[in-house]
Amino acid sequence: MSNHVSRRHFIGGATAAAALGTMGITPQAAEARVRRAAERGIRYLPGGAPMHRMVQSQVDEYDALAKLSSNENPFGPSEKALEAMTYAFKYSMRYGYPDNNVQQRVADAHEVSRDHVLMGAGSGEILDVVGLTWLAHDKKVVGVEPSYGSVYSHATGIDAETILLPLEADYRQNIQRMVDVTNRNARDVGFVYLCNPNNPTGVTVTADEIAYLLDNIPEDIPVLIDEAYHHFVEDPAYEESLKYVREGRRVVIARTFSKIYGMAAMRIGFAIAPPDMIEEMRPYSTGSVNALARWGAVASMEDQPAADHMLAHNKRLREQTISDLESLGYECVPSQTNFFMVNLRQTVAPIRQAFRQRGVAVGRDFPPMLDHLRVSIGTEEEMGRFMNAFEDIMTTMSAGAGS
Ligand SMILES: Cc1ncc(COP(=O)(O)O)c(C=O)c1O
Repeated sequence: MSNHVSRRHFIGGATAAAALGTMGITPQAAEARVRRAAERGIRYLPGGAPMHRMVQSQVDEYDALAKLSSNENPFGPSEKALEAMTYAFKYSMRYGYPDNNVQQRVADAHEVSRDHVLMGAGSGEILDVVGLTWLAHDKKVVGVEPSYGSVYSHATGIDAETILLPLEADYRQNIQRMVDVTNRNARDVGFVYLCNPNNPTGVTVTADEIAYLLDNIPEDIPVLIDEAYHHFVEDPAYEESLKYVREGRRVVIARTFSKIYGMAAMRIGFAIAPPDMIEEMRPYSTGSVNALARWGAVASMEDQPAADHMLAHNKRLREQTISDLESLGYECVPSQTNFFMVNLRQTVAPIRQAFRQRGVAVGRDFPPMLDHLRVSIGTEEEMGRFMNAFEDIMTTMSAGAGS
């Protein structure tokens, strides 16, 4: 690539004019070049690099959306996490860099030793690692449907089978049936999956139910308890399941920095499990958590005010939105998380499209609950847009149905 071409590709904006100036182009010529680019609608990244046109339109479309489809924290990482990640940039080109002792800090925060912790590129990696570890040799995973489906799709992808139980009428997981089906298939069960609170319903399994499950299935069957949303739970009947790991039971707890800590795109999560289970899992893990995520994760864990702010915001807007929907006559599933489901009493898919046309992204289909729309809690402004779109769509639809 000639110098000329590389200049055109890698510099732009005010910075670009200055940079071009230092490269032997007169400041006037540099400014004129940048002005011409701006006239052609080319925008620049903060460092001065021009954005490709196609990328610009993707960015514009994405940035304009109210993103209520993936249960993210709309505020993103805390200020402290951002500072830590900015600091960690200096290690971007390294392999063996100081990583803020993330594994030890996770262990300390959960009162276990370091050998109880396996870091992953998101808890999604942990869920896959559990599948790879315990579903070989024709083993099956037991769980409910709907739940966090990637566990089941990963199982299917590695040619393992799933045994899926329906939810009860009140959207709870039926633990007695889970125990029965696990015992009936004990020889074939690789692990039991319990998402608590469950995604997409936001409904919890109580501490007593977890105790019942663990006490009534063979003790060598691993139980994967996915606690991605545990921070949000207020129900006193709920309990995190770490104590079972400390007792040495065959329990893997999956946790993530993607939700309360707002670091979904940074990809960091972890498993807490007895050391022998961690050792069984380790060969299947990539160990590839990036430097920024490691530093940001530690800072997030230490920033309780930021987490508290998110919790208060979430609770207020969830309750307000549910109450608004109920006053319009739509039932919502009582949720303990940063999302909830509303019963539209009709197939959600076309309505999701209508939301999208109004710039609002809402949850995907969760068979068999195809009449329920999952809505994540976003910013106040996004929730306002959601409610406006909701009223607009539902009014249009019922007018259409009546005509
Ligand atoms: C229940 C549950 N578990 C795990 C994940 C995966 O999260 P991540 O891989 O971002 O940590 C999600 C993401 O939405 C989830 O809802």
